[in-house]
Amino acid sequence: MYSADWPSWLGVLLVASAVSACGAEPDEPVVEQAAGFADELALRVPVDLNPDPNVLEINLEARLSDVELIPGTTTPAWTYDGAIPGPLLRAKVGDRLIVHFKNSLPEATTIHWHGLRIPADQDGVPGHGQAPIEPGGSFDYSFTLPDAGNYWYHPHFDSAAQVSKGMYGPIVVDDPAEPPGIGDEVVMMLSDIGIDRDGSLYANDAGGDLATLFGREGNLVLVNGRVAPTLHARAGLRQRWRVINAAQSRYFQLALSGTSFVRIGGDGGLAESAESSTAPVIVPAGRADFVLEPRAPTGGSGTLPLLWLPYDRGFGTAFARDSETVLHVQFDGRAPAVSPPLPTLTRDLPELDAEHATPVALDLTLNDASDGSFALGINGVPSWEAQHLMARLGETQLWTVRNTIEWDHPFHLHGFFFQVLDVNGVKPKVREWHDTANVPVNGELRLLVKFDERPGMWMFHCHILDHSDAGMMGMVLLQ
Ligand code: C2O
Ligand code: CU
Repeated sequence: MYSADWPSWLGVLLVASAVSACGAEPDEPVVEQAAGFADELALRVPVDLNPDPNVLEINLEARLSDVELIPGTTTPAWTYDGAIPGPLLRAKVGDRLIVHFKNSLPEATTIHWHGLRIPADQDGVPGHGQAPIEPGGSFDYSFTLPDAGNYWYHPHFDSAAQVSKGMYGPIVVDDPAEPPGIGDEVVMMLSDIGIDRDGSLYANDAGGDLATLFGREGNLVLVNGRVAPTLHARAGLRQRWRVINAAQSRYFQLALSGTSFVRIGGDGGLAESAESSTAPVIVPAGRADFVLEPRAPTGGSGTLPLLWLPYDRGFGTAFARDSETVLHVQFDGRAPAVSPPLPTLTRDLPELDAEHATPVALDLTLNDASDGSFALGINGVPSWEAQHLMARLGETQLWTVRNTIEWDHPFHLHGFFFQVLDVNGVKPKVREWHDTANVPVNGELRLLVKFDERPGMWMFHCHILDHSDAGMMGMVLLQ
């Protein structure tokens, strides 16, 4: 734990002072991150129109905007407020979020607040919660933020196309009761975009049916809308990375040489306890809250790439692919620091009752049509032919989601958290709230969901957006 360049008695002293400061005065930072360490990853924040400290009220506009992703070229992106990603919406648990939304796109859209447990009429599902917002139209969203954690927003109309062209933005809901000193924070919205060398966007249907089956990935990895930006670090000094995967299909398997990722939370805030890994995977739409103490290549200086590693999510998806650079971690040359101890972050999560849960079987399927075309579906039918499921207020259900085809599917349920009971019979090590979880190739995910008192039609689907658009989607009517 203590570095060789740093006298160990000093480490003990620092630890002791950090501990004794707990609960008294706000902690003086013991060792400091370089000022502006995450400036290249800065996210825009919206103007709060409401003086009430418990309300975040903003204007938000969906519109086309030329952005520069490849130097010297312009990409005609689809954006929230003119850039990728949309502004960071940050508030605390219990606050109200009011969004005066205007659609200036050439196509209808809606906003889905991914992961937030809000009323069904605010959930952004066209035809159920609300009508599609036509070009030139507007809609006011208003709801309270019930849970701390990392979330995001994106369209739920022509989703694969609109998301892949740049429409997504991060949401962070803070828990004021969280202990200080978890780490110097940066929000990382990971995504990708498919563009040619001249900056023009790939066609939405590039690659045809086969690409739909694979799930289209962009050729350019983005973090907060930038290509390979630089994040500064002091060696050994803890950082907290709030990671959100907003890509339409890409799984992010990350690696930083010499450093392990300690995952303290996931989709629905903190996990029951922390878990360490050297190559964590964040599925499309998933979130991960990491703390890490980056280790410099030599002493306290040098630069290391944060890598995207090819991840085999089914037939052909990792074939002949190389790692890619997500960003560069540049160490500031100071001697490696000793991070103060991580505050205790265990969370008591009630275990949902599997024994009395209503069983529901969902097969994720590929259906051949007689005309040679194909549709993806659930239980053999595409979403447009499917009968909705039923659930009663307060009911707990046990869903067995079986993957019958050759690609992984990140399975997402709107409006409710669930617990993963097991994946291919293996129980997860750590209990946590999910709204998205992976169903591996030919595998089986069993999840438990307790429906609360928010009636309405709720959607579930694969979050490879090419798959959901191709029919792998369904509804559950809660009443
Ligand atoms: Cu991010 Cu219907 O989902
Ligand atoms: Cu899928």
